[in-house]
Amino acid sequence: MSIGTEITGGSAPEPTMEVAIKIWRYDSQTGERALKLYEVEAPEWACLLDVLDIIKDRVDGTLAYRKSCRMMICGSCGMRMDGGAVLACKERMKPIVDRGHVPVISAMGNMPIVKDLVVDMDPFWSKIRAMKPWLQPGYQEPPEREYLASQEQMNPIHKEALCIMCGCCVSECNSMESDPDFLGPAALAKGFRFVGDPRDGADIERLNEYNSEHGIWDCTRCYFCNERCPKGVDPRDAIAKLGAESVRQGIDHDLGAKHAKWFVTSTKTTGWLRETELVPKTQGIVSAIKQTKFALGLARRGKVPLPFPPHVAEEVREARALHDLLKEQNRRGAAGIVQGERGLARIERTDEGGAKRDIAEITPGEEPAAAGS
Ligand code: SF4
Ligand code: SF4
Ligand code: FES
Repeated sequence: MSIGTEITGGSAPEPTMEVAIKIWRYDSQTGERALKLYEVEAPEWACLLDVLDIIKDRVDGTLAYRKSCRMMICGSCGMRMDGGAVLACKERMKPIVDRGHVPVISAMGNMPIVKDLVVDMDPFWSKIRAMKPWLQPGYQEPPEREYLASQEQMNPIHKEALCIMCGCCVSECNSMESDPDFLGPAALAKGFRFVGDPRDGADIERLNEYNSEHGIWDCTRCYFCNERCPKGVDPRDAIAKLGAESVRQGIDHDLGAKHAKWFVTSTKTTGWLRETELVPKTQGIVSAIKQTKFALGLARRGKVPLPFPPHVAEEVREARALHDLLKEQNRRGAAGIVQGERGLARIERTDEGGAKRDIAEITPGEEPAAAGS
């Protein structure tokens, strides 16, 4: 009897396929580690999680992995396929089989492996808890009626609220690899979910906490978290929004914040990043003096331009016009962040060149308004 017939229990057997996958098996108790090949027959509609179920049922019952909802909701089945984090219940196997590819499945990164594909998520949860993921409304007595937030008010945190806490972003985080204490993409996206919530009154306190060591400015902007997130949360964009909100609120004690502020001033005035002035503007005069010898060495080798007179870009007016446009649109703080591939896809170009100015914000659940309406 074919596997398809058994799984459906129906009379007509479903088309099946031969699936081959390799799995990194690991036992933290014994330290044993081995890459094992499995070949099974599976229905053509099978996803990676179905294939793991078949292996566990019919080949090796000791295979360990997590699952629950099977429909991309619970966040349990995060693991790596060919070195990148995925949700096992989201990955269809048919295109992979058709290519003749044998994927390598392993546990997520940046978290200790307990067994096979199961990681210890305690460090993940402790960072989520550190975000105080609950509303702190800031009033002594609750209002008589429920605080109703409009869709418009909630739109800025729409993406962050989609997080299912699967850990796929954390698995691929560059910064966390070198600093395990970095708060990380999932926790910081959760942080913005509350900073941007109109019902929360603790945004300043929260921003101050996220601006401390191992916080938002330690992100290397590698964008792997945006790339791997299976729910389109775009955690890197959330971190950018936290940075922009911090600067808007005057919370700029971190070198990262000073660096970002100098970037803005520098591009506005010259259209370039004036690198020679970067150190004094971000680290202060004392630090700059200490690095004078190094800077002179760079200048001698033509690695940095002399600060005076500052080099002004030919098209500096474009950079200034962009500044004016953002100001005109009142895009301060989080409202000024349009990042990542999905964000860039929303910037339409006019025939004359330059960004279109009248793109309406897209409200979830509504058809985008026709241009000019
Ligand atoms: S941000 Fe995306 S990848 Fe990260 S935990 Fe949430 S849903 Fe998973
Ligand atoms: S963009 Fe930042 S938070 Fe996201 S994976 Fe890279 S270092 Fe981590
Ligand atoms: S099993 Fe729930 S997200 Fe995959």
